[in-house]
Amino acid sequence: MHKRIRKAVFPVAGLGTRFLPATKSVPKEMLTVVDRPVLQHVVDEAREAGIEHCIFVTGRNKAVIEDYFDAAYELEDILLKRGKKKEWEALISELPTPGSMSFTRQQSPLGLGHAVWCARDIVGDEPFAVVLPDMLTLPNGARRRCLAQCIDAYEEHGGNIIAVEEVPPEETHKYGIVSVGKSFGQVFEINGMVEKPPKGTAPSNLIISGRYVLSPEIFKILEKVEKGSGGEIQLTDGMQALAKSQTFHGVRFDGKTYDCGSRLGFLTANVAFATDNPEIASEFRTMLKDVVGKL
Ligand code: UTP
Repeated sequence: MHKRIRKAVFPVAGLGTRFLPATKSVPKEMLTVVDRPVLQHVVDEAREAGIEHCIFVTGRNKAVIEDYFDAAYELEDILLKRGKKKEWEALISELPTPGSMSFTRQQSPLGLGHAVWCARDIVGDEPFAVVLPDMLTLPNGARRRCLAQCIDAYEEHGGNIIAVEEVPPEETHKYGIVSVGKSFGQVFEINGMVEKPPKGTAPSNLIISGRYVLSPEIFKILEKVEKGSGGEIQLTDGMQALAKSQTFHGVRFDGKTYDCGSRLGFLTANVAFATDNPEIASEFRTMLKDVVGKL
């Protein structure tokens, strides 16, 4: 039996420069996809996967994230007084259990690896998940979402798990890439990884796509990792060092990821999530066809 995954780290301290000027005053994780912030979508994904405690690594100008997960007393009061019971219930039902969320700060954006390291004391000595909040995932068909698929793989294989997704080979230089060892259906042994390989040198077209299960030994390694690609402390470099002593498995996740940190990814996510939402899908499709028909 492997230790249960109870905690997830959400690094939200990045600057979001690809989404300026919006991110000048709104954290990119608070931009909305359909009717809820990107961050709410990933917290829902984590809850579905059985996560009990969410740890946010925040930075300056991100206080609104903490407020979002708090009660909104005045609003709740007004909704009740105006008889808006449905809206009130929706608001209350999304509130986290008291004590199930922690917030810590990364004072300067030194990289994803450094952001994860900032959560070390709150995670403690147990395996944990890392969820990149700007990567939204939709599963295919009736399957559970990406993090749940990763935790299923962890329960079977133990060790460390990384969700991966295929991209066209000419795009690999933009991402962290894994190389593939022995396969077990959708899951395979990872026998190497590299962050943003120069064009034409990637060992595969499978990108590290924003969901991880890691063992706590990663923290000791991240403490010593030198700055790598882009002058940042890279999580991939830390994982590479950990792979010398522990197993890593990749999960070819059954679904699709949308990079909401980029404008095109964000816009596509809105279309994909809206057409997947039973409340608005049918009307939205009609409106979309109207717009697309004029192109
Ligand atoms: P990104 O590189 O996508 O985020 O990092 P960014 O730096 O905010 O975006 P751009 O490139 O400037 O537009 C992936 C995730 O890691 C977090 C980000 O918030 C994002 O969720 N991150 C990144 C940190 O928390 N701290 C860092 O120092 C870097």
